Amino acid sequence: NLRGLDLRAEIDRLRKERNAVILAHYYQKPEIQDLADFVGDSLDLSRKAQATDADVIAFCGVRFMAETAKILSPDKIVVLPDMDAGCSLEDSCPPEQFAAFRAQHPDATALTYINCSAAVKALSDVIVTSSSAEKILAQIPKDQKVIFGPDRNLGGYLARKTGRDLILWPGVCIVHEAFSETELLKLKAEHPTAPIVAHPECPPVILDHADYVGSTSGILDYAKTFAGDTLIVATEPHIIHQMEKALPGKTFIGAPGADGNCNCNICPYMALNTMEKLYVALRDLAPRIEMDETLRLQAKKSLDAMLSMAS
Ligand code: 13P
Ligand code: SF4
Repeated sequence: NLRGLDLRAEIDRLRKERNAVILAHYYQKPEIQDLADFVGDSLDLSRKAQATDADVIAFCGVRFMAETAKILSPDKIVVLPDMDAGCSLEDSCPPEQFAAFRAQHPDATALTYINCSAAVKALSDVIVTSSSAEKILAQIPKDQKVIFGPDRNLGGYLARKTGRDLILWPGVCIVHEAFSETELLKLKAEHPTAPIVAHPECPPVILDHADYVGSTSGILDYAKTFAGDTLIVATEPHIIHQMEKALPGKTFIGAPGADGNCNCNICPYMALNTMEKLYVALRDLAPRIEMDETLRLQAKKSLDAMLSMAS
């Protein structure tokens, strides 16, 4: 029974006792972002997980992110407050089906979004994040065939931006698919001078209206430097917490779903992590990410390729 516990103080105590680092994604609840040692996008979090000298990584994000931390830092204990924190993109791409997709295009390079299982990483040549995808694709010769999975929206965006023909896996993020173009245009009509920022996991009908498209950290950088006073944000709305902290005088509005508000765009997987579960994870050092060593080494190759090509 955790009632009556000062969770914030207990987490701080355990963090010291365990020599733990708390890493959090921008889609986590504000109270978790505020106590984390570091908040970042998928690439920043991978780099932090690789470089840390802590004994324990408490990963407040989704499972593929915590798995990535384990692949890059195998000697650390990596805990994820809720092991059910998955991702619809990962679910859309079972490794057996991905292996068959690869086999259909034997001469293609498999460029794969980090939002996938370790088994799919092991079947890939190079991993990308939304912040590094363009830079990495530019290093693959133009005449080289490329398959891209599992996010067809990020893949489609990259193909349009670079003029390249990518062979796409048909996965989507349920959160970014839920934005409504009609509701977005209504909102824009109410705030005609407000720029729209969007994550490349959004479908093309949303991206077509965006003034800026980028990763969560890219979106945050844009928000910190835009000149106006209102910004429309087409990604998971918990990122707005960082914008409001950095720029308290400005207005940030989450882009709406079909119901006209942004609550349907909360990532249900990210939301599984809570202060209570983070406390228990640090107390019990569980649930823990464990991985078969052969799988880890195989998946590490494509992640190492990402880290060197993104730097
Ligand atoms: P970023 O790498 O841009 O933070 O994206 C992670 C993610 O899951 C977006 O839905
Ligand atoms: Fe996966 Fe989408 Fe949630 Fe990101 S927002 S973790 S892509 S389901």
